Amino acid sequence: MVKQTFKFSTTSTDIFLANGISHLKELIDIKKAIFITDENVFAAHQKRFKNFRTIVLKAGEAFKTQSTVNSVIEQLIAYEADRKTILVGVGGGVITDLTGYVASIYMRGIQFGFVPTTLLALVDASIGGKNGIDVGVYKNIVGVTRQPSFILHDMIFLNTLPEAEWQNGFAEIIKHACIKDAAMFKELKSHQMKFYQSKKKEICTLIQRNAKIKLKVVQADEFEQADRKLLNFGHTLGHALENQYELSHGQAISIGMTYASEISQQLLGFKQTEDVVKVLEQYGLPTYAAFNKEKVFAVLKMDKKRANQDINYILLEKIGKGIVLPIPLSDLEKIITNL
Ligand SMILES: NC(=O)c1ccc[n+]([C@@H]2O[C@H](COP(=O)([O-])OP(=O)(O)OC[C@H]3O[C@@H](n4cnc5c(N)ncnc54)[C@H](O)[C@@H]3O)[C@@H](O)[C@H]2O)c1
Ligand SMILES: [Zn+2]
Repeated sequence: MVKQTFKFSTTSTDIFLANGISHLKELIDIKKAIFITDENVFAAHQKRFKNFRTIVLKAGEAFKTQSTVNSVIEQLIAYEADRKTILVGVGGGVITDLTGYVASIYMRGIQFGFVPTTLLALVDASIGGKNGIDVGVYKNIVGVTRQPSFILHDMIFLNTLPEAEWQNGFAEIIKHACIKDAAMFKELKSHQMKFYQSKKKEICTLIQRNAKIKLKVVQADEFEQADRKLLNFGHTLGHALENQYELSHGQAISIGMTYASEISQQLLGFKQTEDVVKVLEQYGLPTYAAFNKEKVFAVLKMDKKRANQDINYILLEKIGKGIVLPIPLSDLEKIITNL
């Protein structure tokens, strides 16, 4: 197995790129493992969970809540899970976020690892150690930063991934290109989603390139004092839209990236808004949208990126170069109202 190790402040994460879930038994003692997945992943890949102790959760963001956490904890107790137990989250970002969070609080913290099964989780959610849950409309407002001990990629899961989930994953990939990688932006612009869906080698390369972008950013700034903030491009407005309008994460941040590009144009003279919009549309993502500015701003001002009366907004100087700009809340309210 090809292993790469990334060191963080208190632990290191072993990443196994392009491997099979069948290799897990070389990594961990399966007898000590409890798998957490959701109904969709379980239904489509049941045979891969054979002989594993598995907790199957209802699928979707609506279940990324404390009551799901409580039910997982009850099931862990029923399995007599102890401090040597390893939790393995097999699923999209909802499952990886929940698994990492439960593992961090059960018995004050047990080991965990991920097998991400959506494009979004492969390139983003499984990486970086942010694990948490939503409370009402407030996304990820409760959680911890704690790194998984391993992440294993198995491309076989992508065979059953619905079209809309491919689009969600591409939203984060386009985000990485916008803030960090102009060459990748150019590559994305020259292809369609179909290209990556039908070419195993190309999607694999793209996933690894993106996983490494995120890993490097997180490694340099694990606790989000500086560069890691850039990963929130499109997310400030995106999160405020996401639960209020029942958008998927990718759709919400795509709209968020569109308006962040517009704000970049207003405040920094960014000249490539049209390019950003074009690529988002090319990958089936929404861009300009009508929304209730007042309601959205009310949620947005609770954003975790708020520091006193400023919101650290992520803007683009140019494609491939994101920056953090603190914007006073009162100014931002005007900007959003006039969008
Ligand atoms: N922790 C982080 O740093 C971070 C980063 C980005 C996103 N997130 C979180 O990730 C979540 C979004 O992740 P997501 O888009 O993966 O959502 P998800 O976990 O809800 O998965 C999307 C859908 O795809 C289904 N699915 C998953 N894998 C499948 C497969 N291989 N075949 C068929 N169906 C499959 C799921 O059942 C679900 O219905 C959000 O809650 C977001 O906050 C976290
Ligand atoms: Zn995101």
